[in-house]
Amino acid sequence: MRVLGIESSCDETAVAVLEDAPSGGARILSSLVSSQIPLHRQYGGVIPELASRNHSGRLPSLLRETLRSAHLDCSQIDVFAATGGPGLVAALLVGHTAGKALALAAGKPFISVNHLEGHLLSPFLSGCPEIEELNVMPPPHIALVVSGGHSLLLDVSGLGQYRLLGRSRDDAAGEAFDKVARMLDLPYPGGPEIDKRAERGDAERFHLPRPMLHEDNLDFSFSGLKTSVLHLLPTLATGGDPHNADEQSLCDLCAGVRAAIVDVLVQKAKKALKLTGRKLLAVSGGVSCNTALRDALLDMCSRRGFKLLLPPEALTTDNASMIAYAGMLHAKAGHFSDWKTPVDPNPQLAGYATRA
Ligand code: KG4
Ligand code: ZN
Repeated sequence: MRVLGIESSCDETAVAVLEDAPSGGARILSSLVSSQIPLHRQYGGVIPELASRNHSGRLPSLLRETLRSAHLDCSQIDVFAATGGPGLVAALLVGHTAGKALALAAGKPFISVNHLEGHLLSPFLSGCPEIEELNVMPPPHIALVVSGGHSLLLDVSGLGQYRLLGRSRDDAAGEAFDKVARMLDLPYPGGPEIDKRAERGDAERFHLPRPMLHEDNLDFSFSGLKTSVLHLLPTLATGGDPHNADEQSLCDLCAGVRAAIVDVLVQKAKKALKLTGRKLLAVSGGVSCNTALRDALLDMCSRRGFKLLLPPEALTTDNASMIAYAGMLHAKAGHFSDWKTPVDPNPQLAGYATRA
């Protein structure tokens, strides 16, 4: 089975073609991402109108290039999948409508994919022999999904069976990185910028709060970090202007922010594993390419005897391979979308509303 996936929920236009492998996994035949980040950076964040215009400008040539590099044409695709939400409505409409139109013209089925489900399943796409032997995809596990818009802990018992254990009550982890970076006058997106500076910083110099760390639930709260940084800034620089802060103080602050976010994510993931008795943790979303988060998760899991699955960096931030992969798993399970399926800026994940 060959699946073509399209992603256009935010500021990356992406197309990928995947083929199922005899082992039960999937092989990426081609996966291209055209990032709009340089375009939005000058505004300090994503401008929805610009995003959708650019998706429609870039998608046709990206589709052609992806098929060309996979040495395929449209008639050799069995299923078309596209992100249906969450995301920016006008941006989603571009990829979703293109996916439907291609499927209709080729006489093949269409699958509308939940972007968060794409992230959630992405760690299994990179191939893991031990997991493939289980012959269930995805196997029962705890999923930590940490993207720009969401921070979720889910108990996954199978495809489409996702029980919500915890989520951020305010800012998502990626959003916290982005907002703090903006306060420090660092470019968008803030996560990689803070990560880079944190490598040169001393995380012990500023001890930032770890909200809800010791509360008896699996929810997160990251919005208080902005307030703490706001209070610290005047002590670092003349007039509180981050332009005047010395480079080392900026790096130390970045290290403190990163340590606080990582600490909360790792401790809550550990708690979820202990509470449910699951032995496998699969982490995904843009924030999962954070170097300190990856190291801390590896450390926690190896100490406690949990298995950890992290996608390769290229599959952490938005891409179409994860959308094609989710589409493939649903197609194999016989789940297809109606032509009338609309985009939805804020859809539920299947089984998502049930809390522990
Ligand atoms: O999953 P993603 O590409 O898009 C959404 O679905 O939101 O995640 C983007 C988020 C942004 O907030 C970005 O700052 C964050 O991932 N991010 C990082 C790193 N790279 C990207 N956060 C921390 N450290 C990184 N290295
Ligand atoms: Zn995403």
